[in-house]
Amino acid sequence: MTEGSFSRVGVVGLGTMGAGIAEVLARGGLAVVGVEVNAEALERGRGHLENSTGRAVKRGRLTEDAQREILGRIAFTVDFADLGGCDLVIEAVPERLDLKRRVFAELDRVCRDDAVLATNTSSLSVTEIAAPTARPARVVGVHFFNPAPVMKLVEVIGTVLTEPGAVDRVASLVRGLGKTPVTVGDRSGFVANRLLFGYLNQAVGMLESGHATRDDIDTAMTAGAGLPMGPFTLMDLIGLDTCLEVLEALYAESRDRRHAPAPLLRELVTAGLLGRKSGRGFYDHGEARPEAAA
Ligand code: 3HC
Repeated sequence: MTEGSFSRVGVVGLGTMGAGIAEVLARGGLAVVGVEVNAEALERGRGHLENSTGRAVKRGRLTEDAQREILGRIAFTVDFADLGGCDLVIEAVPERLDLKRRVFAELDRVCRDDAVLATNTSSLSVTEIAAPTARPARVVGVHFFNPAPVMKLVEVIGTVLTEPGAVDRVASLVRGLGKTPVTVGDRSGFVANRLLFGYLNQAVGMLESGHATRDDIDTAMTAGAGLPMGPFTLMDLIGLDTCLEVLEALYAESRDRRHAPAPLLRELVTAGLLGRKSGRGFYDHGEARPEAAA
């Protein structure tokens, strides 16, 4: 099966988000090339995919044969040149502009001229990430949500330089994968994070000022607002370092005080309390779960 005219899709970076995206693509029947920086990171990425699909097998949502087929569609490699045959590449490396720009310069070198390059950035400028390439017309943002195999929304971002056809093709791919695309302009935080993180940050401020306890704030938002998780449980899932990065990027652009990171959030990140992935954030999760890292 091919989706939205793409048949072979590369994913660069197989952390939680990249591995989740690779899983969604492979479940959709696409051939996937998963790239990591070294053999150790590649094995970790393979581990994410085996665990996630293995959990679905245990829950009776997937047969072992189907799991084998899904994993069989993914080629794991540390060689960027293996992306040469892809018609779309999605970058999901850590949220640092210099790193993403370096990856895009390399992708521009190894990928076919007609290939579309996409970034899964949650808060950086797609325009700036596209700048080192000779093909800004075929660069888009494609922002999945955590956990990628579960969350329906994907924001598809076009810059002023992106040709509308590229946005349409990616949105059509997203639809074909059973997800819901929304198309958004290149503004920090796009739609969902721009709204969500002001709220999360305010929850930290409320805790810090002694307005209410962590548990009472979480309960208020699950039992009262019908959200699946309260703000502190959600921040621990996202990763407090990621929350801080998103808020810093939002604040740099908006100068809206709702986005000025709450001091307690910064303090926890400095102390290495990053949420589920480090074993402790606002809650104690027991053992560190590096596979929960974004
Ligand atoms: N990977 C794959 N599948 C997962 C998963 C994961 N990490 N976590 C849960 N699932 C699946 C389960 O297997 C289960 O599937 P099944 O029904 O087919 O068996 C289903 O999701 C429900 O899981 P659970 O029963 O274990 O748990 P819950 O019902 O509590 O759901 C949740 C878990 C889906 C995470 C839900 O609590 C939720 O929707 N939370 C809010 C998440 C959210 O808001 N994410 C967005 C964060 S912001 C973001 O990502 C932006 C970024 O830029 C920072």
